[in-house]
Amino acid sequence: MIYIITGISRGIGKALVEHYLKTNQKIIGIGRFNPFNDNKISFIQCDFSSLEELKKIKLPLLKEEVTLINNAGIIGEISPLIKKETFDDPFVFQVNVFTPVFLMKKVRLSVENSNQLTVLNISSGAGRRPIASWSSYCASKAALDSYSEVFQEEEKELGHKTKVYALAPGVIDTDMQKKIRETKEELFSSWNFFNELKSNNKLKSVKQCAKEIAEFLESEKDENVLCRL
Ligand SMILES: NC(=O)c1ccc[n+]([C@@H]2O[C@H](COP(=O)([O-])OP(=O)(O)OC[C@H]3O[C@@H](n4cnc5c(N)ncnc54)[C@H](OP(=O)(O)O)[C@@H]3O)[C@@H](O)[C@H]2O)c1
Repeated sequence: MIYIITGISRGIGKALVEHYLKTNQKIIGIGRFNPFNDNKISFIQCDFSSLEELKKIKLPLLKEEVTLINNAGIIGEISPLIKKETFDDPFVFQVNVFTPVFLMKKVRLSVENSNQLTVLNISSGAGRRPIASWSSYCASKAALDSYSEVFQEEEKELGHKTKVYALAPGVIDTDMQKKIRETKEELFSSWNFFNELKSNNKLKSVKQCAKEIAEFLESEKDENVLCRL
């Protein structure tokens, strides 16, 4: 089995690599930085906000079973739409939607046996319900959910056994949550909720999240594309 994981520098992606290194799996990391000094990891450097860089990614023919985990993601500017200082929506969509979609296709075409691919797109509950001040994030995750469902449908039609999931992992103690808590309170109506999750120790650790994702992938019981931990 080869695990292709994006965004391995920190957060959930880094914890996933740590998890799979312990079980001696082959890993291809893709992203801006590789914090690991381990020859079990092949690393492809790429800034996902650049379509040009993305297009330069080259993958070998993958003869083993492959799991692609599209993990890298950003929350964008946290603010009600009319108060946003930047129009960062194209940037958020490039990282959160177009990059994983590009990689789904790229990896699918690099896998020798079309029955040996699992795609796990890290989505979010925010794509399934509106959260004020997170417009680009919510919309990008909803789009990722939809791309995942369509891709699964297409693979089924082609008679391939590719499995596609869009998984909402819960609320995890990462830099993304730190950024959420550091938003000005007046710009974010759920500010209290997210700050209390941290102060009441309600955030899931990255280690626990990586373990649950690995268990989810091993069980693969869920027929639905959209799922959650
Ligand atoms: N934390 C949560 O509560 C939560 C909840 C639901 C879903 N998620 C999802 O889980 C995934 C991981 O989030 P996280 O919480 O672990 O966030 P994080 O700690 O902020 O890590 C984000 C990862 O994405 C990478 N990334 C961001 N921009 C990139 C770019 N332009 N090019 C390449 N890589 C880039 C980062 O790499 P750099 O170091 O290079 O920036 C980093 O490795 C995201 O898809 C997020 O939406 C998180």
